[in-house]
Amino acid sequence: MWNITIFASGNGSNAENIFNYFKNSKLIRIGLVITDNPKAFVIERCRRQSVPCLVLSQRLLDDSDFMLGVLRDFRTNFVALAGYIKLIPEYIVTAFDHRIVNIHPSLLPKHGGKGMYGKRVHQSVIDSNDKESGITIHFIDNDYDRGPTIFQAKCPVLPNDTADTLAERVHALEYEHYPKIIEDTIIKVLGQ
Ligand code: GAR
Repeated sequence: MWNITIFASGNGSNAENIFNYFKNSKLIRIGLVITDNPKAFVIERCRRQSVPCLVLSQRLLDDSDFMLGVLRDFRTNFVALAGYIKLIPEYIVTAFDHRIVNIHPSLLPKHGGKGMYGKRVHQSVIDSNDKESGITIHFIDNDYDRGPTIFQAKCPVLPNDTADTLAERVHALEYEHYPKIIEDTIIKVLGQ
């Protein structure tokens, strides 16, 4: 059995979609959610689904002994970011080399980088008059929204789109693909 730890900062709809996808899996379980945001709705989603959730201050997130201890205690084999706003500390990226994936709501390398999160990404796509957008799932490295791409899927940007209507279309792609890509990647990297 492989254990995933999810990092999330906000609403947590992707995190919940991942919980549901793996609910009956004999290979993969969600062992822990970590959030940096005490007001994140993902905390409530974890409570409802009985998934352990830790709200951690920046001081603890920066404490490598503490964090690697937590990840070890929850038997973390793989990490998935689901709307996590901060940079994952370098010592975690090193410890989980090619075992941390992120989802970004645009076709990277376009509309990524520090501060490009949630609705801001969709507004940037609209402001650039792009005709298509989509999702990128990638391994992380030590910078925001970088690292080798695993998967992309596209959707159109329609003439009357607002950041909200585009977000809805992109979210649908996230729900459709992210759990499956996590599963495939875990099987490829860790085996079954
Ligand atoms: C998702 O659209 C995710 O792709 C994005 O934040 C949203 C979180 O929604 N991530 C980024 O922008 C990372 N740079 P959720 O909390 O409802 O899953």
